[in-house]
Amino acid sequence: MKKKELVVGVFGFGCVGQGLYEVLEKTPGFKTTIKKICVKDRNKPRSLSQSMYTFAKEDILNDPEINVVVELIDDSEAAFEIVSEALRNKKAVVSANKKMIAENFHALLELQKQYEVPLLYEAACCASIPIIRNLEEYYDNDLLESIEGIVNGSTNYILTKTDSDNLSYAEALQLAQSLGYAESNPSLDTEGYDAKFKLLILIAHAFGILVKPTDIFNIGINNIGDLEIQYAKEKGYKIKLIANAYKTSEGKVACYVLPKFVKSESNLFSVNDAYNGIITKTSFADTQFFLGKGAGAHPTASAVLSDLSALSYNYQYEYKKIHQNENLQLDTDCKIDVMYRHSIQESEKVFQYFHTIDEVYKNKDFGYITGTISLQNLKKYKEQFPENGSFIQLTS
Ligand SMILES: NC(=O)c1ccc[n+]([C@@H]2O[C@H](COP(=O)([O-])OP(=O)(O)OC[C@H]3O[C@@H](n4cnc5c(N)ncnc54)[C@H](OP(=O)(O)O)[C@@H]3O)[C@@H](O)[C@H]2O)c1
Repeated sequence: MKKKELVVGVFGFGCVGQGLYEVLEKTPGFKTTIKKICVKDRNKPRSLSQSMYTFAKEDILNDPEINVVVELIDDSEAAFEIVSEALRNKKAVVSANKKMIAENFHALLELQKQYEVPLLYEAACCASIPIIRNLEEYYDNDLLESIEGIVNGSTNYILTKTDSDNLSYAEALQLAQSLGYAESNPSLDTEGYDAKFKLLILIAHAFGILVKPTDIFNIGINNIGDLEIQYAKEKGYKIKLIANAYKTSEGKVACYVLPKFVKSESNLFSVNDAYNGIITKTSFADTQFFLGKGAGAHPTASAVLSDLSALSYNYQYEYKKIHQNENLQLDTDCKIDVMYRHSIQESEKVFQYFHTIDEVYKNKDFGYITGTISLQNLKKYKEQFPENGSFIQLTS
């Protein structure tokens, strides 16, 4: 097959943008020209010749020679404007921006269809792990039953440190921030939104389900306290933030992000630090496990490089599962086994939300319950009392 020559305009020259530049320099066999790089801050010192940079997006978007736009900026609204304008101008796009993609998934599908140009975003889900193209191509016919994984590196780093270094949640967060693994405002990661954005993209490719971010329930790790950390240690478990989607017996798909006690038998147990891991389960292959770096300049750039290479062979996502038209719906009322740690004042009111209760513990300061709760009730309780206690899914 004849390779298409790519002339690339890059938006963003931060961690991933610079990583891409270095990765391309070290990949001499792959002939791609970066013609221009658009950045924002006029006063920042830059590592390349000034002539490579522009501050005007039109210099890339209106350049007829540039046929690929790589969007690697940290502002999801500006990113959507750039990406939609690029698609309207018939330029193929590669993006790593899960927030922008998840918030505009439907509009981006329409733009790709209307202007007949591809948008690829392997780096947006689990950085270096090639999960999207595998869901799209490899699992085309072997029916997927579930996909579950650790898809956020910052929270996995924090949770790893609570386990391996006996740190409290607050100490581990501070360490992650000081080492650049977590943002100064970490809420997108710690409250489970970043994982939710990735899960939204994954279920479109895994099950053909198109939803809005508000349709997927997420609890992060920000309320995890010493009791849960201690409970995990005593039982030989690890707490991991898990993005989970599985077909239910009603033929729907249950889908949520929750912290979970993970047993040592699970492949996810050993996914530590900023690594990501995904387990797929299919009808015929049974389970498969993907492991890789979920963040960082070069690991993320390697996925962008792979998308660029795919574009040079005219690859585009066919969104096969959407077109297979199974019309799968989200199961909003699936039952989940959880442990809930609560204050003494809360204990009476939380009981009624549970479907069944297995264990109740109380001392003078706090209590916990283990039992089964429906996703709907979990959502209701969290909406009413967002700051209370902490829910952790029990290991299955
Ligand atoms: N870092 C990772 O490990 C990782 C992993 C997976 C996915 N991602 C995704 O990759 C994207 C980039 O992340 P990053 O870590 O590389 O961010 P970053 O280091 O903060 O860099 C952001 C870059 O975007 C530029 N920028 C911001 N707004 C702009 C605008 N309106 N027009 C042009 N340039 C603009 C900034 O310009 P200045 O240089 O002028 O400030 C900067 O160069 C994000 O969507 C992120 O979620 C990152």
